[in-house]
Amino acid sequence: MLLIKLLIALVVTTFAANPSSFPTIEVVGNKFFYTNNGSQFYLRGIAYQQDTSEVKSDSEKVIHFVDPLADPKACKRDIPYLKELQTNVLRVYALDVHADHDECMKALQDADIYVIADLSAPNVSIITDHPTWDLELYKRYTSVIDIMAKYENILGFFAGNEVITNSTNTECAAFVKAAVRDMKKYIADSGYRKIPVGYSANDDADTRVASADYFSCGELDERADFYGINMYEWCGRSSYFSSGYKERTGEFSNLTIPAFFSEYGCNTIQPREFTDVETLYSSYMTGVWSGGIVYMYFEEDNNYGLVKLEDDKVNTLKDFDYLKKQMGAISPNIARVSDASSDAVLACPATYANWAAATELPPTPNQNVCDCIQSMAKCVVSKSVKEKDYGDLFGIICGSIDCSDISTDSGSGVYGALSFCSPKEKLNYILNKYYKNSDEHSSACDFKGSATVVHPLSPSTCSAVLRNLGTVTSSPTRNVKNNARAILKYDFPWLSLSCSLVFMVSFALFI
Ligand SMILES: *[C@@H]1O[C@H](CO)[C@@H](O)[C@H](O)[C@H]1NC(C)=O
Ligand SMILES: *[C@@H]1O[C@H](CO)[C@@H](O)[C@H](O)[C@H]1NC(C)=O
Ligand SMILES: *[C@@H]1O[C@H](CO)[C@@H](O)[C@H](O)[C@H]1NC(C)=O
Ligand SMILES: *[C@@H]1O[C@H](CO)[C@@H](O)[C@H](O)[C@H]1NC(C)=O
Repeated sequence: MLLIKLLIALVVTTFAANPSSFPTIEVVGNKFFYTNNGSQFYLRGIAYQQDTSEVKSDSEKVIHFVDPLADPKACKRDIPYLKELQTNVLRVYALDVHADHDECMKALQDADIYVIADLSAPNVSIITDHPTWDLELYKRYTSVIDIMAKYENILGFFAGNEVITNSTNTECAAFVKAAVRDMKKYIADSGYRKIPVGYSANDDADTRVASADYFSCGELDERADFYGINMYEWCGRSSYFSSGYKERTGEFSNLTIPAFFSEYGCNTIQPREFTDVETLYSSYMTGVWSGGIVYMYFEEDNNYGLVKLEDDKVNTLKDFDYLKKQMGAISPNIARVSDASSDAVLACPATYANWAAATELPPTPNQNVCDCIQSMAKCVVSKSVKEKDYGDLFGIICGSIDCSDISTDSGSGVYGALSFCSPKEKLNYILNKYYKNSDEHSSACDFKGSATVVHPLSPSTCSAVLRNLGTVTSSPTRNVKNNARAILKYDFPWLSLSCSLVFMVSFALFI
């Protein structure tokens, strides 16, 4: 009896000692759940950021956007309106990692509102036409995680938004999935709460099923934790059967991770009556979908707003009233976490029709590796050469030597060991390789003054870092991690690079 009392006291004090009993949200199987009581969580979301696609960019690639969580006056002004719409999630598209978000995040938490944040910024994102997963992106993504992870009401992160646009550019999915993998690992390694990481897709007829499967398939450490699709199929007064929602629900019915509308609200018929809300939260769809995020709060030129700001005053629009009425009428079935299963794993098919992305993902960007190739180079690009002119040098040099260590082929899943380094580091690497191949003749490090011979720094730590670069000859599998240990022989970097091996890196050794 005494023991039981003691135990109860212990439990009570443990809870009392916890300064906040605010429940975080977790993913189990294909649903979200409150961690305090195990009941299902549906997103009743609103996209909350002034359009970042029209922001001004100056010549230095610096982009000025309005961080929606950095202005406490503005977010506190908006919270009562968001509550009127029963909002429990805000989606934000770009955060300023140098801004203070404490006050807005606290105010939102007090209002039981969670935040799902894109990790990219308008000037730092995975680009559809020339995708990379490089150090610059890695630093941007991790810096957003670092500033947001401390908040109990951060619900999740998007590692990309509409990066794949149609069947002509599906290869770039491998880079986004690598970002998902690396951010999940970063969150775990940093000791943060297990905040889920996912992707927000467009709704393209040829790729939507393959894309959802691709992101949700495979090993736990690589697959997305959730999947969003930006959905604009239901316009005006439509129905589950005629809008396309029925087909989409069928197509996504086998997903093993939560799916939701990461944007919705077609506006071709105005005002928007949001008649799809009732269906989205009805039993037609709740087995498969976890709700959605209405696009968007602020009225702008694109006519998707729920409210219009005038001199910092909020004026609600007709769409706002309709959405409020619809949200007030829903009562979705609530699943219990105890009934959820997280065992199901979707196998990753190698290729699909209309889907060319390899299941083998690009390597994890590693600063040490790039620093080392840079500091060990004996021939480097001259300071006078502008980055926009690097292409000419790459063209000339790679026309005569093998550049596979710096390039990627995401269709076949072959990624150069140094493909994540900056353009300058990569250029220095091949300049140096060319110079070495030419027996270090000074004429081989010139290119009409574009390259210069320097004394390498060769820090002692670098030989260890670079020794860990593995090589493989065939299309690598997950076992590369183990193979690399046995195969890595060559003393980085130059002597064996002329052979025709495909060079790959295994970072497993120092991750
Ligand atoms: C579980 O907790 C959440 C958050 O406090 C609350 O909104 C919800 O109603 C609770 N569910 C049940 C079944 O008590
Ligand atoms: C992107 O823009 C931000 C300002 O919004 C700036 O601080 C940053 O340096 C820019 N990044 C790049 C890679 O240009
Ligand atoms: C595919 O997407 C690209 C990039 O968004 C676009 O330029 C191109 O026109 C699209 N192609 C088709 C066939 O839709
Ligand atoms: C879902 O899985 C079932 C059983 O494996 C299969 O018959 C069906 O075709 C799948 N549906 C989709 C849309 O992939």
